[in-house]
Amino acid sequence: MEIKGATVVITGAAGGLGKAMSFAFADAGAVVVISDLREDSLAAAVNEVEARGGKAIAVTADTSKEADAERLMKEAVSRTGRLDVAVLNAGILRDGLLVRVDKETGKVKGKLSLDQWQAVIDVNLTGVFLTGREAAVQMIETKSKGVIIPIASVSMHGNPGQTNYSAAKAGVAAMTKLWAQELSRFRIRSAGIAPGFIATDMVMKDMKPDALAKWESVIPIGRLGKPEEIAASALFIAQNDLVNGVILEISGGVKV
Ligand SMILES: NC(=O)c1ccc[n+]([C@@H]2O[C@H](COP(=O)([O-])OP(=O)(O)OC[C@H]3O[C@@H](n4cnc5c(N)ncnc54)[C@H](O)[C@@H]3O)[C@@H](O)[C@H]2O)c1
Repeated sequence: MEIKGATVVITGAAGGLGKAMSFAFADAGAVVVISDLREDSLAAAVNEVEARGGKAIAVTADTSKEADAERLMKEAVSRTGRLDVAVLNAGILRDGLLVRVDKETGKVKGKLSLDQWQAVIDVNLTGVFLTGREAAVQMIETKSKGVIIPIASVSMHGNPGQTNYSAAKAGVAAMTKLWAQELSRFRIRSAGIAPGFIATDMVMKDMKPDALAKWESVIPIGRLGKPEEIAASALFIAQNDLVNGVILEISGGVKV
């Protein structure tokens, strides 16, 4: 796909990976429709894209809300006339063990709450379903041979402490593959990215130096990934029409 002049919607675009992807697509000549819950950070991101010479449109939206997902994808088309790429990146963490047990007594002292479960499922699974569905609607109606790029995670294989997150990301990976099949008759592609540990706020917030060293020790390349490395992967998927129905694990070789 030719990126110059394309319209690229990116959700969760005020965050670490979303912003890096906005820069990468805008630098390559796309109009980026950047969306997030956080209105102020989104406005700042628009300024940053424009300062680099790019074109950005901000749409505040909660991807877990059906009406917001519909409005976001419709607005991308009404304001730019097209929709070529939808990067479904908005996501949250609410980590916790399934059950926590007191070492002394052997009694259960805590459980992963239904609230923790539901919050992550709402954004990381339902949000991807809704925004992916609405992107497909707009691509079909505008006869776009576009691409949907959901952001999963290596945690989709099952990462201890992340029952909610791993379940959602495994679901994202499954949707990505099945959408490639369902949408092929419209020549719409679907291919995702499963990042490993990337140095963004989501990961670095409250990270202590010894915890960072421990993480780095399990990554075969010996360091966390950079947001720009994930952004380059999203651009590659969009540009290369042969990439379809797969999840690229971009993780420095980490095994979860
Ligand atoms: N950073 C990593 O190591 C890593 C690894 C694997 C996967 N991922 C995935 O990459 C994506 C981006 O992660 P990040 O590291 O940039 O996180 P981040 O916290 O920096 O950014 C996430 C963004 O999503 C937004 N958001 C949250 N809920 C939303 C909602 N309901 N509607 C719209 N926007 C919402 C937040 O406001 C934030 O700006 C997530 O899906 C995450 O699960 C990240």
